[in-house]
Amino acid sequence: MSNIKPLIIGISGASGLIYTVRALKFLLEADYEIELVASKSTYMVWQAEQNIRMPVEPAQQELFWRIQAGVEVGGKLHCHPWGDVGANIASGSFRTLGMIVIPCSMSTAAKLAAGLSSDLLERAADVQLKEGRKLVIVPRETPFSLIHLRNLTTLAEAGVRIVPAIPAWYHNPQSIEDLVDFVVARTLDQLDIDCIPLERWQGRK
Ligand SMILES: Cc1cc2nc3c(=O)[nH]c(=O)nc-3n(C[C@H](O)[C@H](O)[C@H](O)COP(=O)(O)O)c2cc1C
Repeated sequence: MSNIKPLIIGISGASGLIYTVRALKFLLEADYEIELVASKSTYMVWQAEQNIRMPVEPAQQELFWRIQAGVEVGGKLHCHPWGDVGANIASGSFRTLGMIVIPCSMSTAAKLAAGLSSDLLERAADVQLKEGRKLVIVPRETPFSLIHLRNLTTLAEAGVRIVPAIPAWYHNPQSIEDLVDFVVARTLDQLDIDCIPLERWQGRK
């Protein structure tokens, strides 16, 4: 029996699917085991942002993500259909390292704040909370309405770590990937996962 528990990645229909791709790249390269669930809206956002059809069928979707991330071998990746509320990650008895929702739409933030479990992503996130495990969300919207802020506050009060998709500029970013990787690294920091070669602030030299 493996001592290393899987990490759940939830993907919702916010802009910025490059955040998911970069997270997968580094986690799979570092040999993490990933349980992945994308909300129904994610499929439409992929189509709109990349003009690429994301497959629904789990084995095809695994291959799709591996190609997107450029990691054809390494790590373990299991993809789940959005409606499969009978999947392993729907139960608290299935042990995990926790879950990241990257990117997290305001709709998903609202549903999590209300405790809904109407699809597998919501149920898996709800399970992390009820089991006292780490739940980290990467909200992407601008500007925020008062309702968005209230929902994010409710989640923060429930122990959710909120890592907005807001990059820093002190690490001398040279590319879009450098900006994205900063957000992904700070997200994984919340789970004490350090697998991204990020230039961290060491104080002024
Ligand atoms: C191209 C595209 C980009 C979107 N970007 C965002 C976004 O950045 N943030 C957000 O909260 N919603 C965004 N939406 C709207 C969500 O996809 C929509 O509210 C959806 O119902 C979210 O469902 P989900 O949270 O179950 O994934 C976007 C939609 C499309 C088609």
